[in-house]
Order: sequence, then structure tokens, then C-alpha cells
Amino acid sequence: MNEIVDDYRLVLGGSEYVPIMIGGMGVDISTVDLALEAARLGGIGHISDAMSLLVSDQAFGTRFIKAKSARNAASKAGLDKSMVTFDLGDLREAQRRNVEATISRKTGDGAVFINVMEKLAMGAPIDTLRVRLEAALDGGIDGLTLSAGLHNHSLGLIEGHARFRDAKIGIIVSSVRALRVFLRSARRVRRLPDYVVVEGPLAGGHLGFGDDWHEYRLETIVDEVLAFLRSEELDIPVIPAGGIFTGTDAVESLQAGAGAVQVATRFTIASESGLSERAKQTYFRADESDVVVSSVSPTGYPLRMLAGSPCLDSNIRPQCEPFGYALQAGGGCQYLDAWAATPTDARGHKLPVHEKICLCHAFSTKGCYACGHYVYRLKDTTHRRDDGSYQLPSTQHIFEDYQFSRGHEIALPQPEPEPTHA
Ligand SMILES: Cc1cc2nc3c(=O)[nH]c(=O)nc-3n(C[C@H](O)[C@H](O)[C@H](O)COP(=O)(O)O)c2cc1C
Repeated sequence: MNEIVDDYRLVLGGSEYVPIMIGGMGVDISTVDLALEAARLGGIGHISDAMSLLVSDQAFGTRFIKAKSARNAASKAGLDKSMVTFDLGDLREAQRRNVEATISRKTGDGAVFINVMEKLAMGAPIDTLRVRLEAALDGGIDGLTLSAGLHNHSLGLIEGHARFRDAKIGIIVSSVRALRVFLRSARRVRRLPDYVVVEGPLAGGHLGFGDDWHEYRLETIVDEVLAFLRSEELDIPVIPAGGIFTGTDAVESLQAGAGAVQVATRFTIASESGLSERAKQTYFRADESDVVVSSVSPTGYPLRMLAGSPCLDSNIRPQCEPFGYALQAGGGCQYLDAWAATPTDARGHKLPVHEKICLCHAFSTKGCYACGHYVYRLKDTTHRRDDGSYQLPSTQHIFEDYQFSRGHEIALPQPEPEPTHA
């Protein structure tokens, strides 16, 4: 097989892209810089809107988290979080600010989309989701990728927005059944998706499957989705995701009828990724046996991560007042229940909570080492330094490796210059 990814183009609403989409990685792992590189190189990058208040505080010195914490201080001592709310004005401003700042720096022929997870219910799922979607469009985002949920009301929430028909909109599904549900709602507002990402069981982070995730195969689901769209006479590009590790893996998907591929794990260790240097080196060192699919997420979805993630077995007090992203309407969160059920030691200190993690704390501190199944192959994508650490490749290097490589080869980055000793 001699084809390379660059022989193909993804066409979305009259625009042509290199058919490589870098998936959203919350919270701020797929940074603005990482997404902008994908766009500069002609592909599609994603920022994520998870914890946009925190991302804005860190990028622009706003004080949204402090204000939210102070406003909700009354519920701090107890476990009733039904009164915790987001200020919708702040949420709108943070989202718009993050998106505007990103889009204003965009170069190249590619695009920057935003990943919007429905499962982040934020205590008021409909109101907060509407604001997140509207503000992303107001900020000028090129596209909305709807993820982590069926999103069967999401399009209706922004039907009246001036950019509803001009921005690209896509949905992430893991089955034909989920796609059918979304299309039913899309037809109600006469706005079909511009692309469908099909995420398989080897993907990173939360999985759209139950505990039987290992019984599924990405290729089979993609074939089923393609056949379903043909039967409906719908010409919508299908974008497989999950375990596409080499350019040749991507070419095989494109030959099988995909419009592009969505990839993420290869980019977790890019110099532009938002993970800490320590986390990146942990990803490089990982062996296959370090990768777990765990039930600790309070969202109820299985979560693929490294077994050594700092967030596991923590006894952190629930962080609903400053954050509260995982709160259901009415104030419930599975971590609150797990926390309540965990006893204290003789000195009154909470013992480690095994069953669930505080997702807000885990993601805000980047203590959850979410990863795709093939994280243990990252060590084969770069050079090992003399001190045992690994050199970080750039986003450009990884992107172009996907774009131009053949025969399942992975090009290593230019070796770093030897350190000079005075
Ligand atoms: C560290 C990490 C964080 C992720 N976070 C999100 C997220 O916030 N929202 C989402 O829809 N998908 C998320 N994903 C899934 C990716 O966007 C992508 O679809 C998937 O990981 C592709 O498979 P690959 O990692 O094997 O290339 C995440 C993946 C990783 C590795």
C-alpha cells in the first residue's frame, strides 16, 4: 500500500482540509497552541470547553472561580449541593473570551473547533449548555463538536443563533443507535450534522460504551455507520477515532470510506500539549499493563486512564463550590455519594475514596492521566535521552508524521542538540 494521508482531503461545506482532526482533550490538554498548529497545517484542531472559567482565569487572570466559590460558600460544609449554581453571565464571558482569543490567532487553511461535552451538567444542564454553545458561536469558533451524550436537545438550543447554519457542527457517537437519536433531533430543526465522529473502544478518556466496551471494534461500528448513512441517502463524512496510531492506520480508515480521522493520544506528549512535563514522561514510560478502563468517573461512563493517576484513591473534599461541573440537575454527583459512604480514621480524617474520583478536582489539577489504549507505544515515537527521559516532539512533527508516513512507520523527531558543558 503506497497511499498516504496527504492523498486525501476532507471536504466540509465547501472547505477542504488535510483529513486529520486532533480531538478535544479536556481540561486544556488540547491547548489553544496545539489546536492552532493543526489549523496552521491545514487540518482541524480542537479546544475543549470543559472548565472554561478556570481556563479563562489561567489565561487572562480573570477571577471567575474565586467569585463562584464565594457565591456558593454556604454549601461548603455540607453535602447538599442543590443550591450550587454557575453565573451564566460569567460562563458566557469566559467561553467567548477563550474562543475569541483562539480564533484571533488562527493562521493557515485549517480550522479550530470546540469540543462540548453534554455530560458536564453543571447543575443546570439545559441553561448552561445553551450558554456554552451560543458563546462559542459568538466568539467565532469554526465548528462545534458535540460529545459525551446524545445531544438530542442541543441543536434546538441554538436554532435561533445567526451562525447556526454557517458554523460546522458534528456529533461524536459510538453506535448507529446514538446517531439515529441525534439525527431525529437534527431533522426537527432542519440542520443535519456536517460530520460524524465515530469513537471506538480504544479511545482516550471517557468511552461511550458500557462495561462490555471490549466486545466492540471501531472498524465494525464505522462500517455500520457508513451503511446506515447510505441507506438514509445522507452524504455526511464519517471520522473514526480511537487507536489510530500511525499514518497507515489512518490511510486504512480513509480507504474504508472515512472522510478523515480523529486522533489524540499521539498528541498528549507534544510540546504544545497542556499536560505537565511529569505527566508526559509518565505517559512515555507507560506499559500496556498500566492502562486501565475504570469505573471511577462520576459521569457513569468507563474512563481509560493510567493506573498511576494521582487522582485515584484521593480523599479530596468535593469541589462543587469552585467547580461543580459534574453536578446533575438537583445537585447530585456520584462522588458526593462515594465521599459520604467513606468512613473517617480515628483522628476524623476521611479515608481514601476508592469508588469514585472528584472529576472536577482530577481534571482541574490534571491529576487524571486519561489516555488511549496505545499510550504505551508513545515511547516508540521519540528519542530517549541519556538520563532516561524522553524528548517531546512538536505538534507539527506528529501531525506531519500522520500526514506523510508509509508502511506503519513512525518518523522520530530531529534529535535535540547535545547539551553544551561550560
Ligand atoms: C487525554 C485525553 C483527554 C480527552 N478528553 C476528551 C474530552 O474532553 N472530550 C471528548 O469528547 N473526548 C476526549 N478525548 C477523546 C479524544 O478526543 C479522541 O476522540 C480519542 O482519544 C482518539 O483516540 P486516540 O487517543 O487513540 O487517538 C480525550 C482523549 C485523551 C487521550
